[in-house]
Amino acid sequence: MGYGQEDWSGKPVIAILNTWSDINPCHAHFKHRVEDIKRGVFQAGGFPIELPALSLSENFVKPSTMLYRNMLAMEVEELLRSHPVDGAVLMGGCDKTTPGLLMGAISMDLPAIYVPAGPMLSGNLRGEVLGSGADTWKYWDKRRAGEIDQKEWQAVEAGIARSYGHCMTMGTASTMTATTEALGLSLPGASSIPAPDSNHIRMSAASGRRIVEMVNEDLKPSDVLSRASFENAIKVAMAVGCSTNAIIHLIAEGRRAGFDISLTDFEAASHVPVLANIRPSGDKYLMQDFFYAGGLPALMMRMKVHLDLTAKSVTGGTIGNDISGAEVWNDDVIRPLDNPVYAKGALAVLTGNLAPDGCVIKPSACAEKFLKHRGPALVFDSYAQMKAEIDDPDLEVTENTVLIMRGAGPVGGPGMPEWGMLPIPQKLLKAGVRDMIRISDARMSGTSYGACILHVAPEAFLGGPLALVRTGDMIDIDVEHRSINMDVSEDELADRKAAWVQPEAKFERGYGWMFARHITQANDGCDFDYLETGFGAPSPEPEIL
Ligand code: FES
Repeated sequence: MGYGQEDWSGKPVIAILNTWSDINPCHAHFKHRVEDIKRGVFQAGGFPIELPALSLSENFVKPSTMLYRNMLAMEVEELLRSHPVDGAVLMGGCDKTTPGLLMGAISMDLPAIYVPAGPMLSGNLRGEVLGSGADTWKYWDKRRAGEIDQKEWQAVEAGIARSYGHCMTMGTASTMTATTEALGLSLPGASSIPAPDSNHIRMSAASGRRIVEMVNEDLKPSDVLSRASFENAIKVAMAVGCSTNAIIHLIAEGRRAGFDISLTDFEAASHVPVLANIRPSGDKYLMQDFFYAGGLPALMMRMKVHLDLTAKSVTGGTIGNDISGAEVWNDDVIRPLDNPVYAKGALAVLTGNLAPDGCVIKPSACAEKFLKHRGPALVFDSYAQMKAEIDDPDLEVTENTVLIMRGAGPVGGPGMPEWGMLPIPQKLLKAGVRDMIRISDARMSGTSYGACILHVAPEAFLGGPLALVRTGDMIDIDVEHRSINMDVSEDELADRKAAWVQPEAKFERGYGWMFARHITQANDGCDFDYLETGFGAPSPEPEIL
């Protein structure tokens, strides 16, 4: 490499874990940003080495990047264990990269700071503002209903992604970078800065400087993170109108840090109102507007009565200190507590005989009338069956029907693909229907909206009750009372269970084989059981192997 002794001898060696690739538009600027981070490391007297890590491009990895989140987490942990490094800068942003990087770094517990990719600029089509994902789904429904042609669809595509950076709605990417900042693992304000903004370059260099100081201070994730940090992050997730994926990732991150975070913590935080008027929970604004309105520190200042301000951060101080002085510059984008976007919390956890271990709905992004609903089930056994039949003009379906799709959970998917926003049947679309109850053991994109009930646990592939429901069974949803039930007697369910046959395994070898044997269910964070805190004795240092 041409390095001399004077380059690194006696200096903190900083690994920069870069999730850039030629097929990840969200991280297209990382080739440049890594140089900015290196500049900061050099300025502070450290020595940077760049280590490439799995890119996990949400747009292109099939069937789902979720299948590989834990692979990235393992890669991060082992990269940091096996190389001669003292600290780490984690470069991520596209959905699963943030939790993957954090989970690995938390387990390894070297000093680490997270540099978020930043949201892309707002989309625009002939003056109409377009939001990632949310408008894709909207215009795709129009395309399926025959209201727009292919040329117009391509114009939407061209207008919706105007720059590098991650999705600029409050999807999974913006949610996870915001919760990472709320956890105290990135510099204050970092997560709201749009990727192409010059402030993003300065933040990157500042993160490079700070990690060298953190190594000198021996400030590790275990020194920063506490149960209060995770409770803060969950409340911030509620206030930003988070992606449903936040539940799975924050449970996994929390358990890696040694805290028994569960669905109960999300339910306990569901009194926190949605304050960020960002789509899809909000009706108007995008991440760029959020940044101009003051960004995450301003939002956290607004909701400080809900936060534990003594929680620590990578600055070496407290969250309270980090956000002091932050101001809101636009009350419509970051609402006051007495004028929220949605008063009751972004997410609700439901349980009942259809989901004994829980499932989740995002009431802030669905039609009010579906929060209490009774309707007949229409069941699809797989994504393939649903896709083949959903647009059949003879499909027996009304807007009161409850669409159910199973076989899309952690093992059955595999990897819980984001199939949970089942398409509205074409015959209903043409009649103007735009929302209906949809239930699955899948996830959905954080940019999606609608009355979608997700993450049903245990999943159908393993014989959870979702495997037993039949077309025509009446389904009862009551979000206020947090319940989800099928109106089927216990005796009948026992008969169906006795007759149930587990589907054949999908993988006979390789990563998928290992994944299916060790993945935990959605309510447990979908980590591998053998990576969870407390499993086995600590890994030995590479030198003694
Ligand atoms: Fe990367 Fe949406 S595609 S964040």
